[in-house]
Amino acid sequence: MQIPNETSALVFDLYGTIVDTGSVTAACERIFPGRGAELSTAWRATQLEYTWLLNSMGNYLDFAEVTRRALSHSCRSARLPCNSGDERDLLEAFMDLAPFGDSESALRILAGRGFRLYVLTNGTRQMAEETLRRAELLTFVSEVLSVDSVSVYKPDPRVYQLATEHLSLPAADVGFVSANSWDIAGAAASGLRSIWINRGGDVPSEIGPPPVTVIPSLTELSDLVVDDGR
Ligand code: LAC
Repeated sequence: MQIPNETSALVFDLYGTIVDTGSVTAACERIFPGRGAELSTAWRATQLEYTWLLNSMGNYLDFAEVTRRALSHSCRSARLPCNSGDERDLLEAFMDLAPFGDSESALRILAGRGFRLYVLTNGTRQMAEETLRRAELLTFVSEVLSVDSVSVYKPDPRVYQLATEHLSLPAADVGFVSANSWDIAGAAASGLRSIWINRGGDVPSEIGPPPVTVIPSLTELSDLVVDDGR
């Protein structure tokens, strides 16, 4: 495994990598029976689209507000009547995202092997920490780094520089772990050692440099690191 030495840190994406944004489907389905999967998919896609639009416009709204507006737009586009109580319940469900099945054991093993584990996320620090706390994963994370401190979203290079500067490490010594292929491309373009978790057998991004490593789940990440003699 190309994670070089004791000073190295592992930086994880949060949404879609450690916690499953698709897990809001159950709450969507409860409120809009038969339309839950459709709403959940549109909500996530619009949320990401809004971050990229804001970056292109040179504007910034924090991720809580982006998430709220993406939900509103998705409901209106699908002609789903979302009242203020429904909106509150769905935004609450987004704070309560379920971890992927491999997240807890991988983070526990890596933290136990002495790795410093960080999260670098589009989410505000408050959102991300609350979601990690509810998922009982916050204890494994040294620190949550949020794009909120640079007021620009992934994959802008300033986001990945935030991590390398904060950790005082050269980009090539920072392992960046994400299941989002576009996030991996952005991190690789900024020189980070990017490790793509390709759970769905997706086609790689054709924009940006390729990842250093592609593995099917976080489980292989801990296996690879442990195999490295730690
Ligand atoms: C995040 C987005 C990529 O957690 O989901 O930063």
